[in-house]
This record gives sequence, C-alpha cells and structure tokens, in this order.
Amino acid sequence: MFLKIDISQKDWNVQDRSDITTLKERSSTEDKDGHIRFCLEKDVESSKSTGFERYDLINSSLPDMDYNDIDISCRFMGKDISAPFIVLPLTGGTETATEINRNLAKAAQELNVVMSVGSQRLGLENPALEATYQVRDVAPDVPLLANLGAIYLNYGYGLKECERAVQMIGADGLFLYLNPMQKVFQGTRNLNFKGLSGKIAHICGNLSVPVIVREVGFGLSSDVALQMKKAGASMLDISGAGGTSWVKVTRYLKEDSIKKFGSNFDDWGIPTVDSLIAVKEAVNDLPIIASGGIRNGIEIAKALALGASYAGMSLPLLSPAMESSEIVKKTIDNFIKEVKMAMFCCGVSNLRALRKGECIRKKEL
Ligand SMILES: Cc1cc2nc3c(=O)[nH]c(=O)nc-3n(C[C@H](O)[C@H](O)[C@H](O)COP(=O)(O)O)c2cc1C
Repeated sequence: MFLKIDISQKDWNVQDRSDITTLKERSSTEDKDGHIRFCLEKDVESSKSTGFERYDLINSSLPDMDYNDIDISCRFMGKDISAPFIVLPLTGGTETATEINRNLAKAAQELNVVMSVGSQRLGLENPALEATYQVRDVAPDVPLLANLGAIYLNYGYGLKECERAVQMIGADGLFLYLNPMQKVFQGTRNLNFKGLSGKIAHICGNLSVPVIVREVGFGLSSDVALQMKKAGASMLDISGAGGTSWVKVTRYLKEDSIKKFGSNFDDWGIPTVDSLIAVKEAVNDLPIIASGGIRNGIEIAKALALGASYAGMSLPLLSPAMESSEIVKKTIDNFIKEVKMAMFCCGVSNLRALRKGECIRKKEL
C-alpha cells in the first residue's frame, strides 16, 4: 500500500521510505514531501494577482448555437485530446508522489487530457525511484510529458539524461523548466545559469521528442520566449505569477533556518496574464500553455481568448490527487464544464472562435 499522508501530523514522517531511499537522496525526498505538505496545509499562493480579474468575457444574450455542439477537442503533440487542459508537473521520487502521479494520470486518461510528471532528477539518480513516475500502465493513450530542470544541463546532464527521462515514462514530450528564483531560494550552490540557451538548443535539436520550455510560477518574459523559440522549443509554458509561489513554499520548508528571510520576494514574478500577452506578441507562431494561478474554467476560457493554446494547473489538483483518481476526474471535469458554460454565454462554439479574442475585453479602470 502507498504511504498515506496525514496532513494533521506535526512531524513529517519519512522513516517508512528508508527501503527505497538512500541517505544521499534522503534530503531531496524529504523536500519533495515537504513541498506537498506545505502546499496542502499553508497559504503558498503569491500575494500578486494573475491579472485575470482585469478582463471580462463578454456575455451574449443570444448565442446562435446549441450548447451541445460546443467542441473543445484539439491536438497536442500529434494526439487528439478532448480539451486543451494540461495536468502540470507536481511530483515524483517518493511513495506519496507515486500515488499522486497515478491518481492524476488515471483521471487524465479517462478525460483524455495531457498528463505530466514532476522533476525526474531523483529517478535519474536512483533507478529504484523510477517507478514513482511511471504511469503509462494507467494512462496508455494520453500525451505524457517528462520533466527536468534545465539548470542540470550545467551540472553534468545532457542529451543522454533527457532521453532517459523520456524513456523512463514513455513520454511524448519533455518539459524543461527554468527556475532561477526557486533555485536561489533553495540555498543551493549550483546556481550557474550561464550558457543554458545553447544547451537547451542542443536538446531541442536532438531529443527524440519535442521540448516544451516552461517557468514554474514566475512568468516567462518576451525576451526569454524569443530565445527559447530560437533554441527550437516546440511550445512554451509561461507559468506566470499569481498562483503557487515557490518563494513561499521554500520559506515554509526552511522556516527553522531562515525564518522570515526572503519574504520581500513573496510576490516576485510576471503576472500570468502579462506574461501570456507579452509572450504571445513576441512568438505568435508557437503554441503557448497558460498556467500559474489558473483556478477555474472561466480563467481557462480567458487565457484561451487571450491567445493561449492550452491551459494547465498544479495546485488545484494536489488535494484531489491525495484522495483518489475519481476526485481528480471530477475536479478537472468541472473546470472543463465551466469552460464550456463560459463559451456558451459568449456565443462561441469552438476553440478557434474563442481564440479570436473577440469575446474578451479589458475592464475600464
Ligand atoms: C507541489 C508542487 C510541485 C511542483 N513540482 C514541479 C516540478 O517538479 N517540475 C515543474 O516543472 N514544475 C513543478 N511545479 C510547478 C507547477 O507545475 C506550476 O508551474 C506552478 O505551481 C504554477 O501553477 P499553479 O499556480 O497552478 O500551482 C510544482 C508545483 C507544485 C504546487
């Protein structure tokens, strides 16, 4: 049986994992479960707003359509999916992560949406942990995305490790994440981001599957988006500010040692909407995933109307994933229903019409 997390527990119990966790990895796996714990128990969201409240979808009192004709199916990396929804990377490397990943993946398969796993570094370091990411047995058909931090390309990882991450889970694509703010907060010595663009280009040009470059909640700028387009990224996930803040998560994790240090960075980052609009303007021809603080179907519809091709969520799926695949499925299904309801009342019946952006307007201040 999987290790169940009792979130009321004061002491975070990692003893039960000693059979699959060497001492070298212990602190990282503790961090992984610590992230989950604090994301479930504490306010880990940025004090900054995503910016979606600055926009309204325009109500149509006379939608010239039948609700039942609304079609939000689309394609993702060569596969048909039922909705432009992506289960974003959350976790891996621990027994708790195994259960979370499997619950997310089962739900993604049943709803036919995109699934991704959390950073696979622990799995690359210790093959015994590979199983914590493997979900193909429960999600055989959906697009599945592998996940690695781009910074590791400056610390010994290369094409071989990226390929291994992809093969480990039978992925259709690789999420390479950029996370300088998260890294600097972790207090790690490995903070050399120099020259990464060229190394990312090498991965994009030679990996067996497409690469999506993403942020982790601080927002891609137009400059970085242009660099990543040039590097050969097939898609970008802007993952902007306004949702989960890694500054906050990390501050909880390090509470004893650094106390309140760093709180000035609690609202660091480019708000999701600003990042989306800037990146869309800069790289109009690359598909964009909108994420970071998206919390309901109306915000998904707004993101699509502002030019995103897909939308993704992490934090809202975490607590459901601790429960069961059924609850995850219900949660995502409700978001998808909200997208369709919003589209109906805007009078648009498909994604092409929604993405024209004619049914969204900036509120007057
Ligand atoms: C508990 C947790 C773990 C995460 N782990 C990863 C990870 O391993 N790799 C990654 O690319 N992003 C990771 N993220 C970042 C998310 O994928 C996402 O970009 C960010 O949380 C913003 O989305 P949200 O506001 O919907 O949570 C994680 C997020 C959470 C909440």
